[in-house]
Amino acid sequence: MGKDVIIACDFDSAEKTFAFLDKFTGRKPFVKIGMELYYAEGPSIVKEIKKRGHKIFLDLKLHDIPNTVKKSMAVLSRLDVDMTNLHAAGTKRMMEAAIEGLTRPDGTRPMLIAVTQLTSTDQEAMENDLLIKEPIDKVVMHYAHNAMEAGLDGVVCSPLEAGKVHDRCGKNFVTVTPGVRFADGDIGDQKRVMTPAEAKKIGSDYIVVGRPITAAEDPVAAYERCVAEFVD
Ligand code: C5P
Repeated sequence: MGKDVIIACDFDSAEKTFAFLDKFTGRKPFVKIGMELYYAEGPSIVKEIKKRGHKIFLDLKLHDIPNTVKKSMAVLSRLDVDMTNLHAAGTKRMMEAAIEGLTRPDGTRPMLIAVTQLTSTDQEAMENDLLIKEPIDKVVMHYAHNAMEAGLDGVVCSPLEAGKVHDRCGKNFVTVTPGVRFADGDIGDQKRVMTPAEAKKIGSDYIVVGRPITAAEDPVAAYERCVAEFVD
């Protein structure tokens, strides 16, 4: 499975997205389309970016009853994305239904990745709001294992967790890790960060990088720097 840098296109319009992507005249980066852009522009933004030759991670984090998730995944799979995701908290049955929905008539399907606990949820919120009393690390690993048992390809996790996920779920279980910053860059609102080189060392399969590239003075150079540190 290919290691790659995924650029988080956290823009609120097609116009801003294309102004950004137009800068990439050479290699076409793998891009992540999240809720903000998808809800602003709808499926056409996925088709347009795909047509330009980019791989797409559609980050919509589905979480609903199994039947609804299955039918929604069937629609997303027709958009020909390369990777999409859901919340492991929706249960194994929901994840299995998602795989069924995502699988095309010819047997192929986009990669399916689970979100375990959001990094914005800490131990206190988990205990008080969700009434989950186990240590958060244990919950994250348990959800990752559920995702593996349901047949998913991997999880979104912090680069710091990637090694542990591989230990628990095997080397081929993919880790997609946000929270990446250059050693000399701003960390912004991210709490636990790693450089692309460190993420590579610890065994992340894909890094998701937003502002260090999108807000850089020279986004193409910042992207190439990520690739040089993480992939090459
Ligand atoms: O700009 P930045 O590099 O912080 O962007 C990281 C991207 O990864 C954003 O799209 C953010 O929503 C996403 N993400 C994250 N932490 C998670 C899950 C997703 O930062 N736990």
